[in-house]
Amino acid sequence: MTNSTVSTAANTLPLQGKVAFVTGGSRGIGAAIVRRLARDGASVVFTYQNSAAEAQALADSASTSAAKVEAVQADAANAAALQAAIDNAAAKHGRLDILVNNAGVFVPGDIAEFSLDDFDRTLAVNVRAVFVAIKAAVAHLRTGGRIINIGSTNAHRMPFAGAAVYAMSKSALSGLTQGLARDLGPRGITINNVEPGPVATDMNPPTGDFATLMHGLMALPRHGKPEEIAGMVAYLASEEAAFVTGAGLKIDGGFAA
Ligand SMILES: NC(=O)c1ccc[n+]([C@@H]2O[C@H](COP(=O)([O-])OP(=O)(O)OC[C@H]3O[C@@H](n4cnc5c(N)ncnc54)[C@H](OP(=O)(O)O)[C@@H]3O)[C@@H](O)[C@H]2O)c1
Repeated sequence: MTNSTVSTAANTLPLQGKVAFVTGGSRGIGAAIVRRLARDGASVVFTYQNSAAEAQALADSASTSAAKVEAVQADAANAAALQAAIDNAAAKHGRLDILVNNAGVFVPGDIAEFSLDDFDRTLAVNVRAVFVAIKAAVAHLRTGGRIINIGSTNAHRMPFAGAAVYAMSKSALSGLTQGLARDLGPRGITINNVEPGPVATDMNPPTGDFATLMHGLMALPRHGKPEEIAGMVAYLASEEAAFVTGAGLKIDGGFAA
């Protein structure tokens, strides 16, 4: 191998030339995933629901000369809008390599007060949208394609009251991921479910009584950083993870240990 070959290989980013689609990328874990995939060389199209200013600022700051980042408004609960956003991203870039289903909502409430509307909304964003996005993406993904869902360690351990519907929605992703690994394996596409514990975002602030309660349940008593979750997503998106599929990967500071 010549010196120039070595230097070319060393300069190649792990996701260079790849195109990724991320749902719910304007804030929190999704924003960290967008930044990380772009830093690793992928062009990224991400959705948001309401945060137009944050989304545009992220698209501007995360874009590089090698990787273009674009924000698209699309409510994950709107199947037609989500499907169109994925089809447009694939058409614009001429390919799609990576789908990250990150958009999610957490609506707490005791069963006695929990409304059917909140139940339907939770399932529409946390489960139905994941099905819709995967169905849209598999029309474009080729061998080497990657699907990464953001589930939750709460699918395995829910040690406090008022979060049963959220836990149920994340448990659904475990079954979907395992089943689809069998459908998609013959096509050379992997699908995995990243299952974070408490992560410092607007959804789960790292200080306060609730945070302290959670820290008491963990082997590492702190909230995770969105960048730590993004690191696991980047690994699963990479060539290195070609033999990982159908897996639930906890990244939770020992919350469910
Ligand atoms: N934080 C945690 O402790 C934790 C732990 C385990 C799993 N998770 C999961 O990780 C994912 C991200 O959570 P997070 O903590 O980063 O949440 P977050 O801070 O509340 O951010 C949610 C992101 O999703 C977007 N979003 C929400 N509903 C949407 C919809 N209907 N259509 C399109 N985008 C939508 C939001 O867009 P807008 O900015 O436009 O509202 C925002 O970008 C979720 O699936 C969550 O369940 C989080």
